[in-house]
Amino acid sequence: MARSKIALVGAGQIGGTLAHIAALKELGDVVLFDIAEGIPQGKALDLSQSSAQQGFHSKISGANDYGAIAGADVVIVTAGVPRKPGMSRDDLLSINLKVMESVGEGILAHAPGAFVICITNPLDAMVWALQKKTGLPANMVVGMAGVLDSARFRHFLSEEFNVAIEDVSAFVLGGHGDDMVPSLRYSTVAGVPLPDLVKAGWTTQAKLDAIVERTRKGGGEIVGLLKTGSAFYAPAASAIAMAESYLRDERRVLAAAAQLNGEYGVNGLYVGVPVVIGANGVERVVEVALDADEKKMFEKSVASVQTLVDACKTINPAFA
Ligand code: APR
Repeated sequence: MARSKIALVGAGQIGGTLAHIAALKELGDVVLFDIAEGIPQGKALDLSQSSAQQGFHSKISGANDYGAIAGADVVIVTAGVPRKPGMSRDDLLSINLKVMESVGEGILAHAPGAFVICITNPLDAMVWALQKKTGLPANMVVGMAGVLDSARFRHFLSEEFNVAIEDVSAFVLGGHGDDMVPSLRYSTVAGVPLPDLVKAGWTTQAKLDAIVERTRKGGGEIVGLLKTGSAFYAPAASAIAMAESYLRDERRVLAAAAQLNGEYGVNGLYVGVPVVIGANGVERVVEVALDADEKKMFEKSVASVQTLVDACKTINPAFA
């Protein structure tokens, strides 16, 4: 049986890590695409040579031509530029919006049947633009943010409780990063909701509040430490979990930026919500009742996604 094909549009820090994890997990053959000449080819060669010791059979190649992504089953998009000192949010938005236009054209021409996972920031607006530009079915275009925010939240909680991370589950909604809406009620340790663990004296509300704040600023904390780049290991691992759930029809419930059509009272925007990812892409949005506080935070988060989308429409009226 032919191996699946995973195309990585953007062969930077996250792209290279995605290729490595995909190969180690034998998810399929991997094509790294980038506009920078030599980078995807060099990374592909280095990774291919690592297979001698690491024992994977995935073929890894690099290209500067969109033809190379032809027929991909999954496309993961990290193409774009990071925000640099002195660059306004609108500058970043307009540069990466243009990148999404060219990436969208490439996907539409060569891999229109793929499950597309966008990672490029500002995520909620970029995934919206990518879907709009390609016109691909919304269940096949999704943004990676919630899995990463949940992973950060779970890591900090597992440290606080001194328990295995796989026994900690986190429920997050809303936009990426600062706008993340954690639900403490729906986040658990071995099925026990966090507020019950406060009552039981395992932790305090103040400590949970600090963990939520640290999770929201999780990306910034890493930028502050690295100084010349942003996080890439956990973002790559998070996108791979989504790709794997699609390719292997695992039907995992993962937080992701999905197009909402009435769910949570939102129409047409991409917002982070728990979804079921299986062989048909986003198969279901998991909709639960929110309490007043969660609702307020969620609405604030949706409003900031709307502001970004409106800014995209102003920058390029073709998106309106
Ligand atoms: N088409 C293809 N690739 C492009 C394009 C384009 N139009 N424009 C830029 N790129 C490539 C760059 O050449 C670079 O190799 O995208 C890559 C981005 O890689 P990095 O700068 O290393 O960024 P990375 O850390 O991988 O993050 C990528 O994910 O989390 C977000 O904010 C982050 O938007 C950023 C993205």
